[in-house]
Amino acid sequence: MELKQRPRRLRANEAVRRLCRETRLSPDSLIYPIFVDETLQGIRPIESLPGQNHYGMDSVCRAVEESLAAGVTHGILFGLPAHKDACGSSAWDPDGVVQRAIRAIKARYPDFYVITDVCLCEYTDHGHCGLLRGQEVDNDPTLELLAKVALSHAQAGADMVAPSDMMDGRVAAIRAALDCGGCANTPIMAYSAKYASAFYGPFRAAAGSAPAFGDRRGYQMDPHNRREALRECALDAAEGADILMVKPALSYLDIIREVADTSSLPLCAYSVSGEYAMIKAAAAAGLVDEHRIMCESALSVFRAGADMLITYYARELARAIAEGEIG
Ligand code: PBG
Repeated sequence: MELKQRPRRLRANEAVRRLCRETRLSPDSLIYPIFVDETLQGIRPIESLPGQNHYGMDSVCRAVEESLAAGVTHGILFGLPAHKDACGSSAWDPDGVVQRAIRAIKARYPDFYVITDVCLCEYTDHGHCGLLRGQEVDNDPTLELLAKVALSHAQAGADMVAPSDMMDGRVAAIRAALDCGGCANTPIMAYSAKYASAFYGPFRAAAGSAPAFGDRRGYQMDPHNRREALRECALDAAEGADILMVKPALSYLDIIREVADTSSLPLCAYSVSGEYAMIKAAAAAGLVDEHRIMCESALSVFRAGADMLITYYARELARAIAEGEIG
């Protein structure tokens, strides 16, 4: 008898498609960014990120409440301080904006998982991610400051710290400070492969963290490079990172795939402000179906190999997953 190979009808109906899905999403793997503004009372919409808000200290718990209601149990905090100076000193103030926000959230929602972005650019008057020597960021003296920031977040009750500055050696410096400061169990999620990207534009407008001069190409990665991302990830892993990150997400799916294949550490991807704003703008112009584009974009990041995703769409995605619109 002649054996004829032919494709089975695995796409024939929804039930078999669900059975055969290679990528499965869960609200557990979504992280929602929360912006807290020390100078604000109440809630103010962020112009550069339609649908997102700045929260005052009095209302930061609203952000958490709304996330939990949507099924999102993890957040990452960004602070807008009242005071900026050359070294970003309010970033490690025990009563700084992020430190107070952590305490406020943890008092009401102890189970909400709080990650903090550790960087200086929102806190320095020049908007760079570290101390300056002339026009350049001075790597080594900056490490000590970042370590102080991370420790102050952990001591305020943060569950995890996420350094986004891209200084060399910061993971080791932060690990040492956490270990010596009584926070040995606080994990580090390292923004390891963070590219010097135009996709951060709406975030910088939202966080007031655009550099006053120059750009971040001296410390963030060149988008031309792939192997460099693997080196950055290997270094962060060797320094004690618990989770690696690739950022942005959509234009760097190749990097996500490669890091996922070469490192055994959990991998986070950050679908950044420009990715979100582009979908919002195209949808507002009536050019695309926002909901479907949101689902397909998130799915592609997980299919590329990410284990978790930071996204401004976290709540809408969690609902779409719960309703079975994506798997
Ligand atoms: C702080 C930081 C930035 C983002 C996250 N942490 C801005 C930057 O590096 O300029 C960008 C996030 C986004 O665009 O959504 N260094």
